Amino acid sequence: MKQKVDSESEQPFIIHPRSWSARLAERLTEPLHLNILAAFVKLFGSYTMKIDFDLIRPRHYAFAILEAARFAQRQGVSTITIIEFGVAMGKGLLAMCDIAKQVSRETGVQFSVAGFDTGCGMPPPVDYRDHPDLYQAGDFPMNQEELARELPPNARLVIGDIKHTVPGFLAELSPEQPIGFAAIDVDYYSSAVEALKIFSGPDPTKYLPLTLVYLDDIVLPSHSRFTGELLAVEEFNQANAMRKIDKYRFLRSQRIFKQPRWISQVFLLHVFDHPIMNTTKARQPKIYADHPQRRRSRPYLISSIDQLLNDGWRSRRNHASRQSRLVSQGAGQYKGSA
Ligand SMILES: C[S@@+](CC[C@H](N)C(=O)[O-])C[C@H]1O[C@@H](n2cnc3c(N)ncnc32)[C@H](O)[C@@H]1O
Repeated sequence: MKQKVDSESEQPFIIHPRSWSARLAERLTEPLHLNILAAFVKLFGSYTMKIDFDLIRPRHYAFAILEAARFAQRQGVSTITIIEFGVAMGKGLLAMCDIAKQVSRETGVQFSVAGFDTGCGMPPPVDYRDHPDLYQAGDFPMNQEELARELPPNARLVIGDIKHTVPGFLAELSPEQPIGFAAIDVDYYSSAVEALKIFSGPDPTKYLPLTLVYLDDIVLPSHSRFTGELLAVEEFNQANAMRKIDKYRFLRSQRIFKQPRWISQVFLLHVFDHPIMNTTKARQPKIYADHPQRRRSRPYLISSIDQLLNDGWRSRRNHASRQSRLVSQGAGQYKGSA
């Protein structure tokens, strides 16, 4: 639960988690059969299936941690670092640790978790770009000792202003444990600028070639690309020729449930100077499978003429000889897209 002080009444302004009715309303906008399927997955599904069906909360952390593990597996990386910038009472960081533990069990990928915070709430805003209309100094305090006690051995707090703690953390970070996911939840533009410096280190192998980034504070009506975290991202992209943060394109179309807001808050850091982004893997050439299905997709008239010209036996013989030619050339079949 987040806590702010309402300046007019001098009473803390308590931010409650989203209500069950709001969650239910969101689910009811999704197809009924998928909701029924989700109920079965909740009862009998694996942890990763539950993430795919948006059953693990917070859903953005669950998705990003699993996706980062999948990216790591593809690169043969066994341990990745995941980070939360802006920890407050630690609700998000503890959830991150729990999800990481479960994802490790199913994927084998290990996690090192770091949470960055001042330890005493928001610093003073610098100017309008920090949204003093929304946030102020002292918002979101932390009980550092209590939180530190609750963290598992693979997680740690990095206490201090991000502008002082990020450079040392980056210098000590091992390429054996590259960053795979960072959540930016620092509210201010000025803090987000400092947090994103984690991605400007000189060694590209300290990141996965595609690193997940979640931007928390971009969804209110007064957030825009001229202020806050979105402005920090724009400036990061202008300043870094070989590192770019872009939306995770077409993520919504890949998800089973398509309505949730968090899908628009997931971004990717593209590390263009990573060695993997600059080498062609030694592999056989890609070709499309010569499949009768492709023939059927041709216009009806052309298919009919084909049939007239090639009786069944001849077309089968041609197909077989074409296949054996390909095999003798050593070209494997590739059924996916190029
Ligand atoms: C909205 S809260 C984070 C909420 C948290 N992620 C959660 O899930 O409950 C924002 C946090 O960012 C931290 N923060 C903002 N600017 C910072 C800075 N420059 N250095 C360190 N921490 C900062 C504040 O201390 C505050 O706790």
